[in-house]
Amino acid sequence: MIAIRTSEEIECLRQSNLLVSKTLAEVGRHIKPGTTTIELDHKAYEFIRDHQAVPAFLGYKGYPKTLCTSVNHQVVHGIPSDYVLKEGDIISVDCGVLMNGYFGDSAYTFAIGPVTEKIGQLLKATYKSLYLGIEAAIEGNRVGDIGYAIQNYCEKEGFSVVREMVGHGLGKALHEPPEVPNYGKSGKGPKLKRGMVMCIEPMINMGRKEIVQDKDGWTIRTSDHLPSAHFEHAIAVNKDKAEVLSTFQYIEEIYKLDDCIN
Ligand code: MF3
Ligand code: CO
Repeated sequence: MIAIRTSEEIECLRQSNLLVSKTLAEVGRHIKPGTTTIELDHKAYEFIRDHQAVPAFLGYKGYPKTLCTSVNHQVVHGIPSDYVLKEGDIISVDCGVLMNGYFGDSAYTFAIGPVTEKIGQLLKATYKSLYLGIEAAIEGNRVGDIGYAIQNYCEKEGFSVVREMVGHGLGKALHEPPEVPNYGKSGKGPKLKRGMVMCIEPMINMGRKEIVQDKDGWTIRTSDHLPSAHFEHAIAVNKDKAEVLSTFQYIEEIYKLDDCIN
């Protein structure tokens, strides 16, 4: 069963997702050579607690931190650590909160410049594919239309789509039905209805699509060690245009990818 949210519930989900968006921007301010990923995690924890919300990943199925910080060939679910960021790295920062009974969940991949042109292209393609997926998330379409839009674009750009990790419904739980793959066939999968809320989160690899899980039981990385990018928005399905509940606006007031490309 895929929940249909009332406009009051969608307002609550927007508030939770806006807090995530602000947290990602706060974290972004500290992303520079020399910073450790655990320092980023502490910033996020304090920021979320200061806003009367609860970090949603902390303790989720035993996950030990507030953020997922996935560097370079790490795809998702990287655990913040004493790793020191350096020039040329990219880092996916994924954050979730619980506020007033509703979850927020969004992610952004930052470059620590200068990065190579090829990495710049990977980040731009992944970012654009997220918005193409969102454009497909309208009433009457199907979940497969979202994945098709993402896959079709990224593969044309010469990149590959991770299969095992998918987007998801979002609401009173962090992960609700439906699963939202970043690949698929148009016209297949559950029908999209107004009021469904879901996270679309393409995970796109520069090289091969295959992934492996590290011994820590969490970190997902590419099998060929080439970089991977990840962007995530929470959206509400609507008639002609999905409503994006998270926003990258706060991040992009302080960070511009083009300034980070060699
Ligand atoms: N946005 C990630 C996801 O939807 C969040 C992972 S939560 C974690 O999979 F707690 F498992 F890390
Ligand atoms: Co998610």
